[in-house]
Amino acid sequence: MIDDRTTAIVVNSPANPTGSVMDEATYRAIVDIAVDNDLLVISDEVNDNFIYEGRHRSFLNLLDRSVVVQSFSKSLAMTGWRIGYMVANEEMMPYLSKMQYYLTACPATPMQHAVLAALPHVDEFTQKMVGMFDRRRRLIVDRLNDIDGISCPMPKGAFYAFPSFKFDMTSEELATMLVSAGVICSPGSAFGSKGEGHIRFSYAASEQDIERGMDIVERTTASL
Ligand SMILES: Cc1ncc(COP(=O)(O)O)c(C=O)c1O
Repeated sequence: MIDDRTTAIVVNSPANPTGSVMDEATYRAIVDIAVDNDLLVISDEVNDNFIYEGRHRSFLNLLDRSVVVQSFSKSLAMTGWRIGYMVANEEMMPYLSKMQYYLTACPATPMQHAVLAALPHVDEFTQKMVGMFDRRRRLIVDRLNDIDGISCPMPKGAFYAFPSFKFDMTSEELATMLVSAGVICSPGSAFGSKGEGHIRFSYAASEQDIERGMDIVERTTASL
């Protein structure tokens, strides 16, 4: 798909919404394609601490041609605080600063102080979360695969289950039905046309809530 208008490849691993984690061959191929075609790699690595299988491969190793995007939304469970950062080489900074300035004048001061205080504890905090999330991952995938018409691969990272379904409806219709029944989820189509036929659940919730949610999904889809 690369032509003379292409300037960058955007990648995201561990991925939202699939929970997939890039393998070595894919990583190498992206590096080769970027180098051969003189492209930037914009790599969203906000889920890098959430790996259950395999390992994270960071484009921090390719900083002469990458911009690594990071957030505290996942690593400090601060979703909604809108605090993150980018890592790139110095030449890129004037362009990134210009864009950042017009997009968000600056993150709110109290949140910046909170992140500063929490920064030394990120690894310790996420290590505890990963064990807990691994149990939630297995629970939600087992529960989804027990439901007729739903099939869910085991995600290797992040905290999303992205099952496919065989009901005669769009993912938006199914998501709307489940939301009305009490379970928040996203239609696969929200992530692009290839997401149709899928639905995304987040398992950033207690095991008890996951069980309750999956009971609702099971009941709601039983008649479809
Ligand atoms: C892969 C990925 N990148 C970025 C974001 C957004 O991060 P922030 O909350 O810092 O805007 C999310 C949040 O859902 C995400 O899943």
